[in-house]
Formats: sequence, C-alpha cells, structure tokens
Amino acid sequence: MKVPALFQPLTIRGVTFRNRIWLSPLCEYSAKTDGVPTDWHMVHLGSFAIGRAGLVMAEATSINAVGRISPHDVGIWNDEQVGAWKRITDFIHSQGVVAGVQLAHAGRKGSTAPGWGADYEDSTPADKGGWQTVAPTARAFGSYNVPLELDLAGIDSVVADWAAAARRAIAAGFDVVEIHAAHGYLLHQFLSPLANERTDEYGGSLENRARLLRRVVVAVRDAIGDSVPLFVRFSATDWDERGITVEDVAVVAGWIHEDSADLVDTSTGGIAAGIPIPTGPGYQVEFADTIRRTAGIPTNAVGLITLPEQANEIVESGKADAVMLGRELMRDPHFALRASTALGYTLPYWPDQYLRAQP
Ligand SMILES: Cc1cc2nc3c(=O)[nH]c(=O)nc-3n(C[C@H](O)[C@H](O)[C@H](O)COP(=O)(O)O)c2cc1C
Repeated sequence: MKVPALFQPLTIRGVTFRNRIWLSPLCEYSAKTDGVPTDWHMVHLGSFAIGRAGLVMAEATSINAVGRISPHDVGIWNDEQVGAWKRITDFIHSQGVVAGVQLAHAGRKGSTAPGWGADYEDSTPADKGGWQTVAPTARAFGSYNVPLELDLAGIDSVVADWAAAARRAIAAGFDVVEIHAAHGYLLHQFLSPLANERTDEYGGSLENRARLLRRVVVAVRDAIGDSVPLFVRFSATDWDERGITVEDVAVVAGWIHEDSADLVDTSTGGIAAGIPIPTGPGYQVEFADTIRRTAGIPTNAVGLITLPEQANEIVESGKADAVMLGRELMRDPHFALRASTALGYTLPYWPDQYLRAQP
C-alpha cells in the first residue's frame, strides 16, 4: 500500500516523526498562577498522543515569570514546572509520539487577561497579579500597559533565560524545542519595525532587528545539543506595508538556518492591534512555500488546515514538510486516525485500546 505523503515519517536530527500531522501550540490559560502545568494539560496534550499526531507541541511556555501572556500561562523556569512537564512527556512518549515545547516570551503582550473569566480587559492590574512588561521600545500594544524598554543588560539576561529554559525543556523530556518569534511577542517585537524603534545594534536594519533572535537560536542550540530539532515560529508577514514581509522573513530564516535552526513554523500577524488578516482555507501555506524555496529550510504550514485531502496535498506538493493543526485538532484530537482512513491508509500504529474502533 502506498503511504500518503501526510503519513510518511520525517527525520530531523535525532528525532523521527511518524507522520506530518502536528499539533499547533495552543495556550490553555490553565495553570494556577505558578506556571505549573496541571491535569488539564495532561489530558489535553495526552489526547493528541492517543490520536497519533506526529508531534504534540505544548503551548507557549514562558522562559521566565514576566514572559507569560497571562497569570495563568505555563512556564519552564523552575524545577517544579520541569517535574510537572515530565509526567506529561512521559505519557506522550508511552504512545510513541514526539513531544515538543514552544518556548516563549510575550514582551509587551504579557500580563494580559487570560482567555476568559477575568473581570477586566487588556492588561492585568498589579493587585490581580499583573507585572511590568518589557519590550524593545517603550510603546504599548493597543491599549495594553506601556512596557519598559530593555537595556543591554536586560537583553543579555533574556538570552540567558532562553538558554536556561531550553536546558530545562530537555530535562522535562521534550524531544523538540520551538522558539516563538511570531504573533507580536518579544522576539517578533524586535524583528518588526512596527514595534522596534531602537537606534542601537538591536534596531534599524533587518540585521540589527534579527540580532536578538539569532543570539537566542545560538544559545538555545548550545543548551539542547546537536540531536534535538530546533524550530522557529515566525509571523511571515505583519499584513502591513510598514512591517515585516515574507521577503524579510525568508532572509532571516536563511540566517537562523545557518545558526542551526532546523525548521520554520510559518504563521503570520499579531504585531499591532487592528490590522485585518485575510483568512481562508490554508491562507498561510503560500508563506511556508516561499520560505522553504527561498531560504532552503524545511517548513510547516499552519492556519485553517482542516481536511485530510487538503493536508495531504500541502505535503505531497512540497509546499511544506508538515502541517500543524490547531482548532481542527481541538475539535477532533483523533484527526490523524480519521485522516488515515479518509486517505485509504491503514495506520500501523493505531492505539491498541481503540482497535475495535478501526473501520
Ligand atoms: C486557543 C488557541 C490558543 C493558541 N495558542 C497559541 C500558542 O500558544 N502559541 C502559538 O504560536 N500560537 C497559538 N495559537 C495559534 C495556533 O497555534 C494556530 O497557529 C492558529 O490557530 C491557526 O491554526 P488553525 O486554523 O489550525 O487553528 C493559538 C490558537 C488558539 C485557537
């Protein structure tokens, strides 16, 4: 039987993904206020391992306390968090599935209201657990609080926190590390002229704006060793002519590839409030394709990929090496099981406990 492109294994460095259907990172706002993942994360992430995603990527996980998006975000800056993550990666591994973590720092988009249930909007007040945010420039995102501009010592300490978090990610059992440089969070804030007004070596030219990301890639690689795949999620466009474009991102993708990153996870948007995004089925695939061809780095596509045939075509046509699914996998954590059937393929690693559900 011919194995559909979507179900062909992929090896990057020392890790083999059994298929190309990957879970996109999904913030759950389900930690208490200590950054420690909970039973929710175990069941949520575990369900995608049972459903045989090729990669289960944990949500934006903060490298330090002020890098969290909201007070209920998860983190990986202390040993208690590492222990809680290890339980989850152990379960994912028990299913033969690869576990990844998206390391993140929200910068000026930190200290915000969690996804639901807050009696305030935008920034979290100090008496409700909010904190002073940091950014390349002291300019707020929309109506959020104004961040503090990072000085050079502050930048150095952010790089050190990325490295420490990456070391902890390995201790927690993660097989893949992704650096979140998209969606208007700290590293994207440095990359984009819409958020970076610095005049030192971290602002101005594309080379300067990419300097922090490149330092982080080098520091993270040093922390995780040579056998661990390193992904970077970019916003391939700011959807605004004054912001970054896919041409800029393809150049930076080439640089970080030289710096030892292995794959670009290709998203878009998020840098400023009020910029409309023209969404539709597979609306970001073209960016994954452009970056893959121009920078010669493997990519994954993400964004409104919902159908088995659509996902298979993206990989088969060589527009991307894998697809990430967010909301469709939330609707159906067993999407990979269903997709294999839809593509006429008998999945050899269907979970034993679910064999009686195999068509
Ligand atoms: C509930 C929710 C939480 C998300 N959290 C993250 C996150 O932690 N990190 C990230 O890079 N993107 C996050 N995203 C974006 C998704 O990873 C994905 O890129 C986006 O939803 C588009 O893919 P989809 O159409 O398959 O959902 C989130 C999206 C949703 C709906």
